[in-house]
Order: sequence, then C-alpha cells, then structure tokens
Amino acid sequence: MAEKSILILISGRGSNMEAILEARLPARIAAVISNEPQAKGLATARAHGITTSVVPHRDFPDRAAFDAALASAIDVHQPDLVVLAGFMRILTDNFVARYAGRLMNIHPSLLPAFPGLQTHRHALAAGVRIHGCTVHFVTPALDGGPIIVQAAVPVQPGDSEETLAARVLREEHRIYPQAIRWFCEGRLALAANGKAVVQSARAPENVLVCPAVER
Ligand code: GRF
Repeated sequence: MAEKSILILISGRGSNMEAILEARLPARIAAVISNEPQAKGLATARAHGITTSVVPHRDFPDRAAFDAALASAIDVHQPDLVVLAGFMRILTDNFVARYAGRLMNIHPSLLPAFPGLQTHRHALAAGVRIHGCTVHFVTPALDGGPIIVQAAVPVQPGDSEETLAARVLREEHRIYPQAIRWFCEGRLALAANGKAVVQSARAPENVLVCPAVER
C-alpha cells in the first residue's frame, strides 16, 4: 500500500500534533496549517522539519470564505487524511463534505457525553466517575461523527479541571496516533450503518481503562 500523506490543522499548543509527529507513523506529514499566527505548535512543527503555513480566519468576512481558503491551502498538498489537532474553528458543511471519510478530530470527553467546549468543567459538575477522550471522523454534527477509539480515565476526588485535563491529555496522546496508524494501514473503514470499524486484533485493549472495584 502506498504511504499515506497527512495534513494537520492546529490552533494553539499543538501537543497532540507533537505526539503524532513523534509516533513514527507509516505516513508522510505533508504540512501543518494553523488559523492562529501565534500558535505555539507552529514552531514545534518547524523544529520537526515540517512545512507550516497560516490561514488567519480573521482575514475573511465569514466562515464560508475562510473554509474555502483553508481548503485551497490543504489541497495544494493532496493529503489522504486531514487531522484536526486542537483546531478551534467550527467548519462549514461544505468543508466537511469535501473531506468526508478522511477528516479526523480528537475531543476531550467520552462522546456523546460533553460535546462542545469546557468538557472537564462539565464532567466535574456532573460528578461522573469516568471521563476520557474520543477520536472520531468529522461529520456536520458537532462532535457527533463516527467514533474510532476512546480512552477512559478515572475522575479522582479532589480533581480540578487542570488535573483532570492533564490525565485525559496523556490518553489523547496515546489514542490519536493509534487511530491515524489504523487509517494509514488501511484498517479503518466506515460500515454501511455509518459506524467506524477497526480491523485490529488488539483494538478492544485500546478502548477502555477500567478502574479497580473496592471490596
Ligand atoms: C486537546 O485537549 C484536544 O482534545 C482539544 O483541544 C486540545 C488541544 O490541545 N480538541 P493541543 O493543542 O493538542 O495541545
């Protein structure tokens, strides 16, 4: 199978991007594009020898115009997969349709719980005992596309948003490269029922962390 080419979109810190760059995936990272000129991840990408560019959303009158410019910047590289790694823009349906089946996102909750922003705050407020993260294909439904892989972490008594976010982020850095690896190896498919299917003997081990039960 030909080596896949991946393009990563970021808006800020870029720690998921860095985990992907360091995962030694069987893929070529075509470029990293940010909508924020100041995104810290841009320097990290360049330090890894990756081509970067910026499409500043503030330069465009509306979402449609920004998305069209972003799509043009992406299509120069003809990537097989577009990876949203902390990309903080809501994308138009046209953009999502253009990359259907080859647009992935990571979300810091166990979807469908806590879509949207401030997921760790909402998890603490709800009092859930288990929280986590989800890699999914992107569809027009916000944080609603087919789930590829999830990791769960316990919520500890005394957790703050920060301690919980850090525990979840460690798992994000594990499952995002894993999902992309499956894609690159051709082991990821969308079934007729709309669900993502992983052909991996080890897949079940990667989806759930069970807390011990006290007796
Ligand atoms: C991550 O928590 C990711 O799940 C969310 O935004 C954050 C981005 O962090 N979508 P980073 O830029 O990858 O460090």
